Amino acid sequence: MTKKYTLYTACLLYIFIFISACSSQNEKQKNSTETTETTETIPTQVLQTELSPAAIKGKRIFMANCSACHLMSNEKLVGPGMKGVTEKYDKEWLIKFISNSQKMIAEGDEKAVKVYQEYNQTVMSNFQFTDEQYDFLLAYLKEGGK
Ligand code: HEC
Repeated sequence: MTKKYTLYTACLLYIFIFISACSSQNEKQKNSTETTETTETIPTQVLQTELSPAAIKGKRIFMANCSACHLMSNEKLVGPGMKGVTEKYDKEWLIKFISNSQKMIAEGDEKAVKVYQEYNQTVMSNFQFTDEQYDFLLAYLKEGGK
């Protein structure tokens, strides 16, 4: 009878340790997601000091909206690398494409159709930026993609 009882306590203890180990792991996971930085908290020094103030603001916009699909080098990610993109296209073209690439493609813009075909018709998201935000973003595309 006592043997059975000890075994029972041992089991309970074991279960208790197991549960507390699990919950402490959850705690850790929770903490790690909490420390994920938003772009707002990235200190300016980290955003390359050689960039102009406008380009630094543009880099924030780029990191929050574009970096999931684009690199600033000439390497492909989901979409093409941004290196030299401001030399390849003029400002109006870039703004039009970034705000609604599908519209440009539907209208038959040659360059837009070409890159769309090259990327196996992957649809890029549309963005609504203010004129000022476009100036920042394009400053970064120019300075960061040299
Ligand atoms: C969901 C992925 C995705 C996001 C987010 C994204 N793009 Fe794109 N982008 C693409 C793809 C894919 C292409 C290739 C063209 C196409 O498929 O329409 C492209 C093409 C481009 C091009 C034409 C490049 C060239 O060399 O012809 C530019 C410029 C561009 N993107 C800028 C941006 C900017 C700036 C942002 C952020 C504001 C952005 N993209 C966000 C996927 C994305």
